[in-house]
Amino acid sequence: MEAAYFITGTDTDVGKTVATLALMHYIKQQGKTVIGMKPVAAGCELHNGQLKNQDALLLQAAASVQVDYELLNPYAYLEPVSPHIAGARNPVALDKVRANFNTLTPLADIVLVEGAGGWYAPINDHQAVSDLAQHLALPVIMVVAIRLGCINHARLTYQAIQASGVTCAGWIANCTDPAMLKRDENITTIKHALNAPLLGILPYQHPADFDFLARCVSLNV
Ligand SMILES: Nc1ncnc2c1ncn2[C@@H]1O[C@H](COP(=O)(O)OP(=O)(O)O)[C@@H](O)[C@H]1O
Ligand SMILES: [Mg+2]
Repeated sequence: MEAAYFITGTDTDVGKTVATLALMHYIKQQGKTVIGMKPVAAGCELHNGQLKNQDALLLQAAASVQVDYELLNPYAYLEPVSPHIAGARNPVALDKVRANFNTLTPLADIVLVEGAGGWYAPINDHQAVSDLAQHLALPVIMVVAIRLGCINHARLTYQAIQASGVTCAGWIANCTDPAMLKRDENITTIKHALNAPLLGILPYQHPADFDFLARCVSLNV
């Protein structure tokens, strides 16, 4: 492995998975290999008797190499509720996630790890997504959904990332609202408010074309 990044966002449903997939396609376009991990996922369906999460399946399908599902998503909870509630009987252990991460890193040039919810979302009774990123000691990429309220959310999350003592490698503006007014002005304001590079602007696109979205981001890989 050459590098790994932790993908967080200003909230749940802001486009962490879309941004992770765009970055994975970008990395492949650069001629590098990539694996995506979604260590903690709440909201799963049974596939041949095994609980699997849609985000994790998308990351698995986009990877350069075949990876066993349980390696990339060790905690797959049935109900789409906060992991500390969904996982009450099988709580997330950070060492288990790190062991899986360490198994995956030799298999690709770049590993991307998608968080769950926002930065301070609890993953068990005493730890949050922030602890997971810290435990893996990864630089963080922050996905910001460009919608009303995004400036506040971007500044709050950025400050929280810094308070956790991890590096913010950059942020991605994800245009989830096609009716957003003053989109560019909002992005410019956030750009000036954060001391981290803007890695790309993902336009609103439905359905997503990841070969196209990959050309909207950049990362030193
Ligand atoms: N750039 C975009 N254009 C259109 N729809 C988007 C875009 N980014 C995300 N979405 C949609 O918003 C929803 C949340 O995105 P997702 O990547 O799953 O968020 P998260 O991983 O943060 O929960 C999904 O239905 C996704 O298809
Ligand atoms: Mg997701």
